[in-house]
Order: sequence, then structure tokens, then C-alpha cells
Amino acid sequence: MTLILALESSCDETACAIIKDGKEILSNIVSSQINVHTQYGGVVPEVASRIHVENISTVIDEALKKANLTMDDIDAIAYTQGPGLIGSLHVGVQAAKTIAWTFHKPLIPINHMTGHIWANSFVADLKFPLLALVISGGHTQLVYMENDWDYKVIGTTKDDAIGEAYDKVSRVLGTGYPGGPVIDRMAKEGKEHYKLPTPKTDGVYDFSFSGLKTAVLQLIQREEKAGNEIIKEDVAYAFQETALGQLTGKTLQAIEDLKPKMLVLAGGVAANSRLRQLMTEKMQAYPNTQLVIPPMYCCTDNAAMIGAVGYVAYKHGLFGDLAAAADPGLMMPGEE
Ligand code: KG4
Ligand code: ZN
Repeated sequence: MTLILALESSCDETACAIIKDGKEILSNIVSSQINVHTQYGGVVPEVASRIHVENISTVIDEALKKANLTMDDIDAIAYTQGPGLIGSLHVGVQAAKTIAWTFHKPLIPINHMTGHIWANSFVADLKFPLLALVISGGHTQLVYMENDWDYKVIGTTKDDAIGEAYDKVSRVLGTGYPGGPVIDRMAKEGKEHYKLPTPKTDGVYDFSFSGLKTAVLQLIQREEKAGNEIIKEDVAYAFQETALGQLTGKTLQAIEDLKPKMLVLAGGVAANSRLRQLMTEKMQAYPNTQLVIPPMYCCTDNAAMIGAVGYVAYKHGLFGDLAAAADPGLMMPGEE
């Protein structure tokens, strides 16, 4: 039996989880700062790191208590090394190093985005080759994996991440932060009314969302100038259908070309109800590729997913040391 204590603090959630053999969640504590950042309309990095400092010891204590374990029982400490906000990452990295040093435990540095991918292993055994659509506030990537430690980024956004676009559109509509869940809800009440241009990129699997965001802004300005009332639900609908059209189109193209055994959705935007529905419908045409959608609790940031990938790294002997530092721009393992 292998028990991994995992820490996550890359953005605005302070989290600790204890995972048995990579699969069983013994505890999964997430302290969200969302209520604080909502007041500012987005994550304020300095505020985020201060709150991580206040909460990190408590979430570790709670995770151990909930799992009914002590540090003596733990085999290794997995932690998010990057990517993320530097000040936020530092807190988790320093906490991980401190407990590793104090209790003589091996350290496992983890890339946050691989965590989002492995969150799916709580609902299905991952099968390779695998394609992951990684969609969050900071990333939009198609990742192709031939095996459990091979991460090839075959497509990426050329500008904004999709979650960032959701957040910005919500801001211009005046509907607050985080924008994803709000737009998701509003779009359900919306109908086809406004037209937005389809984003274009050169790369077959690459994405672009900044032009779409600007088009939404221009649409609102145009309607305001013409004295028309803006129907926010319809704007949300038009934005979401266009953004998800691009996302699903490129993903299906990669499925056609690469014929993976599995497609997994990963990251905060994987919580989107319309995307979950669209993907489920469209993947019926590809019976040889199994679709896996992460459970809602595992879409947004948490430490259970860091423990899941931490176990894979543990089996490969991929340990770090006390010299390791937080890396805000950390690439996927194997990427230059
Ligand atoms: O993975 P995550 O928790 O943090 C990062 O690693 O970035 O993703 C956060 C992003 C935010 O941009 C948020 O607006 C978006 O995920 N999000 C959603 C939904 N829930 C969260 N986007 C679309 N629809 C949702 N239901
Ligand atoms: Zn994330």
C-alpha cells in the first residue's frame, strides 16, 4: 500500500489530499478563496498567496485527521511545482519541502496540468494512447499520451485560454467572477440571436479565443450605440456556442487523425454542462474511443488529482529534492 499526501496551491485554492495507491481518496480538503477574489473581479495574486499562507497548515492537518492518519503513515509528498502564480505556488512548495525534511519523506514535484488529466483516473483506468483536452483558466491544450508518462502537446491556444475568455466575457457583461459557471448558466436561458465570427488559427489543433472575446465586446458596444437592450443570455449563448464549436471541432479532428483509445476532458472548463453534453453526443460517432469526463469535484483545482498523478510519478521513481523551486511556467514533462 502506498499513501501519498498531496498539496496544491497554484492559484486560488489551498488544498491537501491523501490518496491510497493512486485511486482511493482518503481525504480531499479544498479551501477556496473564491469569495474573496469575487470582490475584485478576478484572482489578486498577492491576496491569494497571503491566504495560502494562512490556510496551508490547517488543510494539511484536516486531511490527515479526516484520513485518520499521521505523517508517519505517509510514503511520499506530492506537490504542485507549476504552472501557476509564483507567490501561490511558493506556499505549497515550501510546505511540501518542510514536511518532507522534517519527517524524512521523499518529494514528488508535479505539473498541475498533468494533475487535471489524471483526475480522470478516479472514474476510469486510463487507456493509452490517450488524448486529453486540457481546458482551464490558464491553459487550452490537446495533449497526446502514448503511455502514462508521455505528454505531447499537439495543440495549444495562440492567445487566451478558454477559461480566461469565459471570465473576460462575464466581466464585460457585468456578471462577475468566475465567469465560467455564470456564462454556463446564462447560456441555458439564451437563444440564437447574435452572430459571432468563427475563430481561425493556422495550426490544425491550435486554438484562439482573444478575437472572439473582442468580437463580444464590439457586439455589446454596437448594440449600446444603436440603443438596443443587450440580452445577456443571448450573448452568453452566442459566445459559448462559438467557443465550444472550436474546442469540439479541433478535438474531433485529432480523434479522427490519431484514433486514441480514450479521450479525457480535464481542467476547470470541463465542468461546463454544454461541453459535457456536446462531447457525449459527438463521441457516439467514435465507438473505438472511450470518452471520460471527470467528476465535478475533480474539475476545478484540488489536491486529489495531484495525489493521483503523484502515485504514477512515485512508481516511476520520479522524485525531487529540497533544492526544487516553484516554476510558474513549468512545461509538461518532456516538453522543451
Ligand atoms: O482548472 P481551474 O480550476 O484553474 C486553473 O488551473 O486555471 O479552472 C478555472 C477556470 C476559470 O476560468 C473558470 O471560469 C472556468 O475554469 N470554469 C468554467 C466552468 N466552471 C469553471 N468554465 C466554463 N463553464 C463552467 N461551468
Ligand atoms: Zn487548474
